[in-house]
Amino acid sequence: MNLVFLGPPGAGKGTQAKRLSEEFKWPHVSTGEILREAVSKGTDLGRKAKEYMEKGELVPDEVVIGIIKDRLKLEDAQDGFILDGFPRTVNQAQSLDKVLKEEGNSLDLVLYFEVDEEEIVKRLTGRRNCSKCGAIFHLIYNPPKKSGICDLCRGELIQREDDREETVKNRLRVYLSQTFPLIDYYQEKGLLREIDARKSEDEVYQKIKRVLELA
Ligand code: AP5
Repeated sequence: MNLVFLGPPGAGKGTQAKRLSEEFKWPHVSTGEILREAVSKGTDLGRKAKEYMEKGELVPDEVVIGIIKDRLKLEDAQDGFILDGFPRTVNQAQSLDKVLKEEGNSLDLVLYFEVDEEEIVKRLTGRRNCSKCGAIFHLIYNPPKKSGICDLCRGELIQREDDREETVKNRLRVYLSQTFPLIDYYQEKGLLREIDARKSEDEVYQKIKRVLELA
C-alpha cells in the first residue's frame, strides 16, 4: 500500500511507521530522518536544511520534493511505501500527486494521528533516539532497559536538537498554519482515516492494522 502518515510533531508517526515497515516490508520514508542524516554528514543538502530545522521551520518545498521524487524511484518503493512527515504543505501534496500520477501510481490512504498539545509536549521532551540505529524511546512511556543505551544495538541515546521546549512550540505553530490544511485536502479526496493516537503504542498499532484491513 502507498501510505501517508500525517499528524503533529510527536504524535507517534515514526514509532508506528517503523513497526509497520518491519511487518509489511514497505519502506519507511521519513523526510525528517533523511534531512537529519544529511545534517550530521555535513552534505550540501544538510547545510541547506540545518538552519530551518534548528528553528523548527519547514525546509523549502523544492528541497523536500526533490528528495521524495528521487526516493520513490528506488526499487524498494515500487510495491508500497510509508511516507512519514511528507507532505507537510498543500504544495508538497500536489507535487506528490503529480509525481505518482506520472508513474501511473496513487496514494491508497492517509492516516491522520490525532493527539492533544499537552501530550505532544510530554512525548517530545521525553523522547530519546538511538544515535546509531534511529530506534525511538521515551523516558517514561518506553524507557530503555539501561539508561542512555539503545536496547537494540547498544548505541548511545540522544535528545534531538529540535526537541527543546521553545523549538517544540514553534514546530506546533508551523504544523497548525502549514500542515493542518492537508486534513481537508485529503478528506475531500476520500483518503483520510483518523487514528486516536492518544492511546498506547500497541493500541494505536492494532487500530492502524484494522484500518488497513478495511481498505
Ligand atoms: P520530522 O522528523 O518529520 O519531525 P515531526 O513531524 O515533527 O515528527 P516527529 O519525528 O517529531 O514525531 P513523530 O510523530 O514521528 O513521533 P515519534 O514516533 O518519534 O521533521 C523534523 C524537521 O525536519 C521539521 O521540523 C522540518 O524542519 C524538517 N522537515 C521534515 N519533513 C519536512 C517536509 N516534508 N517539509 C519541510 N520540512 C521538513 O514519537 C514521539 C515520542 O512519543 C517518542 O519518544 C515515542 O517513544 C513516544 N510515543 C510514540 N507513540 C506513543 C504512544 N502511543 N504513547 C506514548 N508515547 C508514545
